[in-house]
Amino acid sequence: MKNFDVPLHTKGRSVFVDDMPVPEGTLYAAVFPSPAAHGRIKKLDVGKAGTGEGVAAVLTCKDIPGQNQVGAIIQDECLLAEETVHFMGEPVALVIAETKAAAKKAFKDIVLEIDPLPAVTDPRESYANGTLIIPPRTFALGDVDKAWEECDMIVEGRVDSGGQEHYYMEPQGAVAVPVEDGGIKIYSSTQSPTGVQRIAARVLGQPMHKIEVDTRRIGGGFGGKEDQATPWACMAALAAYKLKKPVKLVLDRGEDIKMTGKRHPYSSDFKLGLKEDGTILAYDVMFYQNSGASADLSTAILERTLFHGTNSYFIPNVRATAACCYTNLAPFTAFRGFGGPQAMFVLESAIRTAAETMKLSPRVIQQKNLLNEDDTFPYGMKVENCRARRCWEEAEERYGFEAIFQNVESFNAANRMKKKGAAVMPVCFGISFTNTMMNQAGALVHVYTDGSVGVSTGAVEMGQGVNMKILGIAACTLSISPGRVKIETTNTTRAANTSPTAASTGADMNGRAVQVACQGIIGRLKRLAAELLHHENADDIEIKEDMVHLTGWKTALSWEALVTEAFNRRIDLSSHGYYATPDIYFDRTEEKGKPFAYHVFGTAVTEVTLDCLRGTYEIDAVHVVHDAGKSLNFLIDRGQAEGGVVQGIGWMTMEELIYSKDGRLLTDSSSTYKVPDIKFTPRVVDVHFLEDAGNPKAVMNSKAIGEPPLMYGIGAYFAILEAMKAFRPDGDIFFHSPLTPEKVLNFLYLKKPSIP
Ligand code: MTE
Ligand code: MOS
Repeated sequence: MKNFDVPLHTKGRSVFVDDMPVPEGTLYAAVFPSPAAHGRIKKLDVGKAGTGEGVAAVLTCKDIPGQNQVGAIIQDECLLAEETVHFMGEPVALVIAETKAAAKKAFKDIVLEIDPLPAVTDPRESYANGTLIIPPRTFALGDVDKAWEECDMIVEGRVDSGGQEHYYMEPQGAVAVPVEDGGIKIYSSTQSPTGVQRIAARVLGQPMHKIEVDTRRIGGGFGGKEDQATPWACMAALAAYKLKKPVKLVLDRGEDIKMTGKRHPYSSDFKLGLKEDGTILAYDVMFYQNSGASADLSTAILERTLFHGTNSYFIPNVRATAACCYTNLAPFTAFRGFGGPQAMFVLESAIRTAAETMKLSPRVIQQKNLLNEDDTFPYGMKVENCRARRCWEEAEERYGFEAIFQNVESFNAANRMKKKGAAVMPVCFGISFTNTMMNQAGALVHVYTDGSVGVSTGAVEMGQGVNMKILGIAACTLSISPGRVKIETTNTTRAANTSPTAASTGADMNGRAVQVACQGIIGRLKRLAAELLHHENADDIEIKEDMVHLTGWKTALSWEALVTEAFNRRIDLSSHGYYATPDIYFDRTEEKGKPFAYHVFGTAVTEVTLDCLRGTYEIDAVHVVHDAGKSLNFLIDRGQAEGGVVQGIGWMTMEELIYSKDGRLLTDSSSTYKVPDIKFTPRVVDVHFLEDAGNPKAVMNSKAIGEPPLMYGIGAYFAILEAMKAFRPDGDIFFHSPLTPEKVLNFLYLKKPSIP
């Protein structure tokens, strides 16, 4: 089934925050940003700006009726700056005017004097200064210190990975409308309507029931709107509350790139010990997370880094330590993979280092150490229904690893200025929020008297197709045609206390809640049908193609007639469903538990061609075998896998965030920050889903798919590295993503190639 949003998107008829018709008298807000990365505010005078043409008001932290605090996990983040600014672009004041242009024009009349403080942008420097958000955490298995003695080879190294701009098509934004008695209705482009509701209530000093948040869909989130949609919605709400007028606040691209957080850059040190045959015995790793200027989701992301420290491999002795390091950059935040990709890049780099030193193929080390059934992760959980080897072997057979790597060799032997490279990338990703409490979801289903159905859940549609998947689940559970089902907006008055749509759990959890709700309704309707057909056992009733069937035979009773009759007999046609992922827990004092409902597996092989004159490369092909369980929707899942792969490759190769020493983002526009376009996209992205791979741990035997495929993109780094080595075998390999053409060219030609 095709995603019902697609025709709307292609015709430009799907509605986003900025497309919504606004009520009469709507005002427009613009955010005045801090010009300094770190400093004490000496003077802030907005008096003159407030009298500007068309300006309705200029608000600062002093105008906040409730708490000036938007931190969700750790309360360390002001909505509007108080005494200190911590990053360039930090919101300082909010100008509200008749147009956004008028609001921005008033910026020049804001007087802001700042006493500069030293700005830190490097996480290792922050670590040395002791400016950590929480004390470092360590996951451990076996005894690393003892294991070194048994190793035939020990390698060490350093790995750096850059951040990543989300570059969702729709920038951050919200419209807030005052309703009666001090209430506010907020239309927000958020992955977390409840998050917006909770924090807006805090900022306004109102109970949560006074705040209603509504989200139709968002134009991409990728994690960037999990937490960081909240401040903009709160600012719009604050202005609407103060001025008693509707207020719209939508960032333009430049504002969005400068002011919002991105994927965390990491810097890491590793030590890897192996037996002669490539068996990994010990892994010691330290992750320095560049967390940015406030905690945001950094501690949760750090936790997921630790959970994915060993990726798809079993290592008997592990010590993984990680630290959240404050810096004076816009607070880094969730981004597809949530800290997992950063961890996997380090271990793959360690494996490459070992392979290079031991003159082994990385593939031998990778394959030898893949997870087997019942292997234990450093966090104590045993892998169940392990498909790591199955994915690897199916990929090997299906795509012919031998032939691919032989082709690379013969091509490289025959060509001087063009070189090819290839790399395999296995992935194992845990599904569930690692904060157990968040693994719950609710749904509300109404059957209307004409037999049509409205479904509300906590899931937010962001292009990942969750609404289509939920529609399929509802239609299937009620056994009616999908055309009868409509997915309503995500609204805090219909689905309360929801988790953000994140951690790839949107369809898993909300889908199950919908199933539960639909089962409630269909149970009542079947009992009624049995009664109408003078039959004892309601279990003999089935609804197929909108008709009631009795013991397999079609009757004359239609779905519509049944629903109408139920209404006439005063039978409840609505139902609320609730789902909480069972049997998961995690003990943070021991750092052990069973945090995930299950794991997703897969293997990708990436082939690239390097132009050794220019340092540019093309990604020729990415072949994937992926474990999607029993897919809820093949087209959507393929789209998720393909999109994830390309986004992952972008992170590894061309997407480069460059900051000046004083904390200014220099790559702050689409002319300086490059995301993969259609020309860069691999000519071949071939995704094969495992067959007969049902997953009893998720709704209708499916598996979550949103994030895992991004990590296949990591293979591109190592494929390019292979090609670089083929041109210059004496060059020292380095692990410093993104691997931009500039870095490649330096490696190929500089006398002493150095890591930038
Ligand atoms: N796909 C599209 N098109 N747009 C997005 O913003 N976000 C990703 C992924 N796929 C995203 C996407 C992220 S970060 C997550 S966590 C999941 O979708 C969230 O949706 P799900 O839980 O329904 O998979
Ligand atoms: Mo996704 S990074 O969990 O929003």
